[in-house]
Amino acid sequence: MPSQLYRATIFHTPGNPFREVNALEVFADGGILVEAGRVAALGEFSDITRRFPKAAVRDWRGSFLLPGFIDTHVHFPQVRVLGALGEPLLQWLKNSALPEEARMANTAYARMIALEFLTALVRHGTTGAMVFGAHFASAMEIFFDEAARSGLRIVSGLVLSDQCLLPELHVSPQQAYKLSSGLIKRYHGHGELLYAVTPRFALSTSEAMLEVCQTLMQENPGVLFQSHLNENGDEIREVARLFPWAGDYLAVYERFGLVGVRSVLAHNVHPTDSELHRLARSGSTVAHCPASNAALGSGLFGMARHVTHGVRVALGTDVGAGTGFGMLKEGLQAYLMQRLSPNGFGLTPAHMLYLATRAGAEALGMHDAGDLSIGRSADFVHIKPRDGTVLAAVTRHAESADHALAALFTLASADNIAGTFVRGRVVYEEAA
Ligand code: GUN
Ligand code: ZN
Repeated sequence: MPSQLYRATIFHTPGNPFREVNALEVFADGGILVEAGRVAALGEFSDITRRFPKAAVRDWRGSFLLPGFIDTHVHFPQVRVLGALGEPLLQWLKNSALPEEARMANTAYARMIALEFLTALVRHGTTGAMVFGAHFASAMEIFFDEAARSGLRIVSGLVLSDQCLLPELHVSPQQAYKLSSGLIKRYHGHGELLYAVTPRFALSTSEAMLEVCQTLMQENPGVLFQSHLNENGDEIREVARLFPWAGDYLAVYERFGLVGVRSVLAHNVHPTDSELHRLARSGSTVAHCPASNAALGSGLFGMARHVTHGVRVALGTDVGAGTGFGMLKEGLQAYLMQRLSPNGFGLTPAHMLYLATRAGAEALGMHDAGDLSIGRSADFVHIKPRDGTVLAAVTRHAESADHALAALFTLASADNIAGTFVRGRVVYEEAA
């Protein structure tokens, strides 16, 4: 691949704004040189073009170039569930999500949904995602095959449950072991794909199933783990009833060795201090899904408590309980919910960008992604304000870089995603 120089306003967070001031780096008239899929140079355009005068230039002045978004919690079979508002978690699962997930038994239907899902990711500027899969191995083969074709970085796994859902979504622990092992062998570490052991949540998994999850993690070093945690009051009470020996929800997963640096647990809206302490110590990540938390009425996320305890937090859209695939919108929703929360954490645009990009890359072990420092994989998104729109007016006249970045989170949508790149390759680009 020949080297390519891109010219745009560039934002990224090579630092962590939860720990450092000046974590945000901005190049107002920036240049990024991509060679062999990696960032070869980054700085003001005038400097980069002086150093690399022969590099071909794509002139995106007036546009923005950000690291690709990393969505750490999103359900592939739930694309068409989006918009089913008005119910709390357990009713929403029963009435909306699970009947749709049962349709994934049909492989033609599963392929259609997989394509809708992957297309939505690239069109929203998402370059990497941790994806809750389907309950059917056949649907997961289709999903992984299509994910490989998409060029995206995808972590996913067969969803495992043996109780409390629709019977057609249940598998025995023995089947779960066999099917998951087969999928891990076939897909984990192939191209950009990684596997995550994925029990749906403690409520829908017996102890025998959680033991299988533990075995899968032990037998397959490098695979990740994902599930749900402390999302909803009724859910938490039911988990306490089913696992009377567990002091709290997290203890269920801990008992089976499932809480570590490769674990991503979604929601955690109602944690105890002890759980936060143990999550921090384990190095696992909480996928914060603010739109879903609001849509299902799950509760207000304690960002400040997570930060104070040192728990790693990243962002997830939680499609279809959430409100769509846009990670900019999710960052804005995180900000808005913190504004309304008692003792809410005051998120700056730098925090929002970090949560939507580098925090996710770190959570998923994608250490060569998440920001645009030299040597990183060239995973980025081209965001273009359209002439005559409010976003164009605001960004053109923004009095500071922070204001321009905040305006992207506030006003930009999928309509503004002009291109999405992974390892310097186009995974989506609008027609010229
Ligand atoms: N808990 C168990 N399954 C789900 C799901 O599909 N969505 C959400 N938000 N929470 C869950
Ligand atoms: Zn979820």
